[in-house]
Parts: sequence; structure tokens; C-alpha cells
Amino acid sequence: MRVRRARTAIVTGATSGIGAAIAAALAGAGFRVFLIGRDETRLARAARRLPRRGLAGTARADLARVSEVRQLLDTLAECCPRVDVLVHAAGEYGWTQPGELASPAFETLFAVNVRAPYLLTQGLLPSLARARGQVILINSSIVRSPGVGVAAFKATQHALQGLTDSLRQDLNRRRIRVTSLYPGRTATPRMRRIYAHEGRRYQPAGLLSPRAVARVVLAVIELSDAAEITDVHLRSLRAY
Ligand SMILES: NC(=O)c1ccc[n+]([C@@H]2O[C@H](COP(=O)([O-])OP(=O)(O)OC[C@H]3O[C@@H](n4cnc5c(N)ncnc54)[C@H](OP(=O)(O)O)[C@@H]3O)[C@@H](O)[C@H]2O)c1
Repeated sequence: MRVRRARTAIVTGATSGIGAAIAAALAGAGFRVFLIGRDETRLARAARRLPRRGLAGTARADLARVSEVRQLLDTLAECCPRVDVLVHAAGEYGWTQPGELASPAFETLFAVNVRAPYLLTQGLLPSLARARGQVILINSSIVRSPGVGVAAFKATQHALQGLTDSLRQDLNRRRIRVTSLYPGRTATPRMRRIYAHEGRRYQPAGLLSPRAVARVVLAVIELSDAAEITDVHLRSLRAY
């Protein structure tokens, strides 16, 4: 009898919201999941939430810093020589005030939302290719809406879309599949902060749940044997 090896998944942003839900869903589906976050305490808490056999490891890295992304890649090359699934769920959000010269915020948004997924995907290429793996990037429904007051953030999501569409061509040649997910408003700690900023009462029941997003990720992974799913747009029925 041939025993199937446990598949390995790497998840950034695994300490909160959508990334945490995806990590839990992958562990529940039999993956060994490697969690990435920027805070040791939150990372340890996220690891404790997974069944022991579902945890491949954890690493702390501030994805805004190239030096920490490089260190992270060294760690991942040692621990995960075959990567079946790489999920980019870490992300920064920020508002843009009229007349503001918010260059540091602008740079951090691009560093975390665009440069980090680019570097991590490129750095993990050999491990992804060995497994004929797949890359899932959590983008945002903001690419289809005007996005008032969030010009810099919106620009990062368009940049991520362009990056992903182009990388897909390169990665497909190595039999690695690439999927962009575009969720609408989802009930996560980030969304709670957004409601507070907007001066609105937070009502998570009307939003997508992180678990629902995670279920879609699992479906994409399981269906991908048949074909590459390039883009998935999802939103809550109740939010509109
Ligand atoms: N919530 C929504 O409505 C929504 C809709 C569409 C798309 N998305 C996308 O989904 C992804 C997750 O969002 P979320 O709502 O789940 O947000 P969240 O609850 O704020 O979680 C964000 C995650 O990213 C990590 N992160 C942020 N900056 C980082 C950095 N510099 N280095 C390493 N990790 C960093 C956070 O780590 P810490 O725990 O250390 O903060 C956390 O794990 C984002 O890419 C977002 O754009 C969200």
C-alpha cells in the first residue's frame, strides 16, 4: 500500500483573521502548516490552536524588511524542501489623507503587500516546483471599487494583481499553479479597525467570515488537479 506523504503548506499572516482561518482549515484537511507572523506571542497562540500533527513549524518575520524576508527564506529552505501550497495572507492597510505626504506609510504598504509576496514566491520557487505546488494570494475586492481615502492601499492591490498575473506565466512553466482570491469585506480584526475609523458600528454578521474564505481556498486547492483556477471573487450576500 502506498502511503501519501503529508502535504506542506506555508501561510503568512497566520496570526490573525483570514490567514489564521486558512491555516486552521489546511491543518484540518491534513496539511502540515508552517505559520508566519511578526509577533512571537501571537504566533505561539496561533500554533497552539492547531492540532500538533498539523504544525510544520513557525517563524517570526517582519515582512516589511527585506533582511527578515531573506532570513525567513533560509529557515524555510531547511525545514520545507517541498512546498505544496504557499498562501500569502499577510497584509497592511492604511488610509490616505488629502494633502498628506505619507511616504513611510506608502513604503510600508508596498513592502508588505507587494514586495514580500514577490520575494517569498521567488525564493520558494525550487521548493514549490519540487511539489508541483500552488500559490494563493489574498488580494481584495477593492480592485473593483473606487476605494475612497485609501489610494496607497488600493494601489498595492492593483500592483499585486499585476505581479500575480505576470508571475503566473513564469510559474506555470514549472507546473506551479497561481490563484488570486479577491474577498469582499470580511469579519477580521482589520475590519473592526476599519469600522471604528469610519465611525460605524461593527456588525460582523453582515460580512464574509474568515472561515468561508478559508473554505474557498480549500476548494481551490482540491479542484486544482483538474485545472488552474486563476481568479476567485467573493463577497457576502448580506453586505450589499
Ligand atoms: N478583512 C477584509 O475585509 C479583507 C478583504 C479583502 C482582502 N483582505 C486581505 O486579507 C489579508 C488578511 O487580512 P485580515 O483582514 O485577515 O487582516 P488582519 O486580521 O489585520 O491580519 C493581517 C495579518 O497580516 C500580518 N502582518 C501585517 N503586517 C505584517 C508585517 N509587516 N510582517 C508580517 N506580518 C504582517 C498580521 O500580523 P500581526 O498578527 O503581527 O498583526 C496578521 O497576521 C490581507 O492581505 C487583506 O488585504 C481582507
